[in-house]
Amino acid sequence: MANKYRQDLFVILRDFSGLVQILIPQDESKSEVKNAFLGLTVESVIMVKGRVRRRPEGQENKKMSTGEIEVCAESIEVLNTCRKLPFEIKEFVKGAKEFVVPSGDPGKFYSLPQSPQQFKQLLMVAGIDRYFQLARCYRDEGSKPDRQPEFTQVDIEISFVDQAGVMSLIEGLLHYSWPEDKGQINVPFPAMTYEEAMRDYGVDKPDTRFGMKLVDVTTAFQGTQIEFIKDALLKPGGCIQAICVPEGTKHLKGKDLEFLKQTAKTQYGQEVSVAPVRADGSLKSPLSRLLSDAAKQQLLQMAQANAGDLIFITAGPRENVRPLLGKLRLQCAELLERYGVPVRDPSVFHFLWVVDFPLFLPKEDNPEMLESAHHPFTAPVPEDTHLLYTQPHRVRGQHYDLVLNGCEIGGGSIRIHNASQQLYILDTILKEDSSLLSHLLEALDSGAPPHGGIALGLDRLVSIIVGAPSIRDVIAFPKSFRGHDLMSRAPDFVSEEDLKPYHISVVWPSTDTEGQQDNSV
Ligand code: AMO
Repeated sequence: MANKYRQDLFVILRDFSGLVQILIPQDESKSEVKNAFLGLTVESVIMVKGRVRRRPEGQENKKMSTGEIEVCAESIEVLNTCRKLPFEIKEFVKGAKEFVVPSGDPGKFYSLPQSPQQFKQLLMVAGIDRYFQLARCYRDEGSKPDRQPEFTQVDIEISFVDQAGVMSLIEGLLHYSWPEDKGQINVPFPAMTYEEAMRDYGVDKPDTRFGMKLVDVTTAFQGTQIEFIKDALLKPGGCIQAICVPEGTKHLKGKDLEFLKQTAKTQYGQEVSVAPVRADGSLKSPLSRLLSDAAKQQLLQMAQANAGDLIFITAGPRENVRPLLGKLRLQCAELLERYGVPVRDPSVFHFLWVVDFPLFLPKEDNPEMLESAHHPFTAPVPEDTHLLYTQPHRVRGQHYDLVLNGCEIGGGSIRIHNASQQLYILDTILKEDSSLLSHLLEALDSGAPPHGGIALGLDRLVSIIVGAPSIRDVIAFPKSFRGHDLMSRAPDFVSEEDLKPYHISVVWPSTDTEGQQDNSV
């Protein structure tokens, strides 16, 4: 197959109005321009002069509003360089995707399993009512210290089981296999609803080894004249919440507070007020001048703040405020520990079940639509089943996550075993192409037993047990943070010749550069 490789280099330039592709000249006479581009860090501020031209035929990008043109750079002025950011600015970070593997069948690919979810359900329908496997799983997703593209699950599926049955099986399994030198673990593990976890910890996988819980202090601000707080309270779900960092004034420095405020602003679009509590118990904050004595007293009481503590306060919609304070709570714990203040005991193991998750959540890129909070095979909580047909966003799922010291080490659910309910969810609620799952729907319609299961992330669990800072430390042949194998340099280019048997031709990035970060400024 003919394959036109385009060897040019591109960067994507962004301003508030959108993105445009810049073509970096390759000819020697423009080497200055090229070198200036190559030396830049992501998010630097530059001014580019050049010629706007139509992109070569076939290299237009329909997903980009400026996808028909590009700017051939003639000069570049670096207005400000950006230091290396601790995060990447992306329009939308997808969840996990499958890795696809080419096959000799023209146009056909395998996809590596994210998990054997459908297969284990089909086993139950086939009458094999107990399944257990150490399953290799593959996910093409952003790197984090607790993630790898290739990992191992302890994968389980059981027929004629309920939520409590799966939970006690896992408790027994962990209790039995727990390493002796790590001390005994107590079962049953405590459980918390998703709503409680979000309310108290701002996250669905709370680290319960320490306090600093979120407190709703809205009532202390009732009738306030402070403009930005009044505005925030008028919005749907508007509230004022706080966390109190014990002895925060003693340990956290100005630069730490700046860092935390910056996190709030850049990652959550929220302002945070920091209110230190003076030795005499009074609040030292610009906010305090605007609050009555009674309100200040109420705020201190609600936050259970003492002299020397630091209170972080933020106002806004609940769905912004909770995750933000949840993040700040963890960042404060890390900062305090860096200064030698013990916050989380590394030798204790706090297991926690989180239950009663919403079955569906608004889609990130289109909040009018719903997507499964976990996967589309999770059964609704029986009392909520009728809401599927009227208010699907209010339905809770029979899903359970197992959390250890603030990390999700397992997740599972009781499954839908009724074909028409599964079809309704796929077609009507999720608006997905149910024909792709016709095998599962057919199986469910063939006398499927009630069933459920769970998968434990084995590498993740082991990394926590041994106190490894990263999951990579407990995986035999881990990939780098970016998912690369640095020694064999995978993923790597494959020659046209080697691609031929797979009927694949590579289309170079000019047609799909939007959202690629590695070479953008
Ligand atoms: P889920 O996607 O929640 O559920 O995965 C189960 C557990 O697997 C671990 N895990 C990972 N570990 C390392 N690197 C990764 N990239 C990674 N992704 C997930 C986590 C997680 O809790 N089929 C369903 C389970 C079920 O419903 O039975 C599933 O895979 O510890």
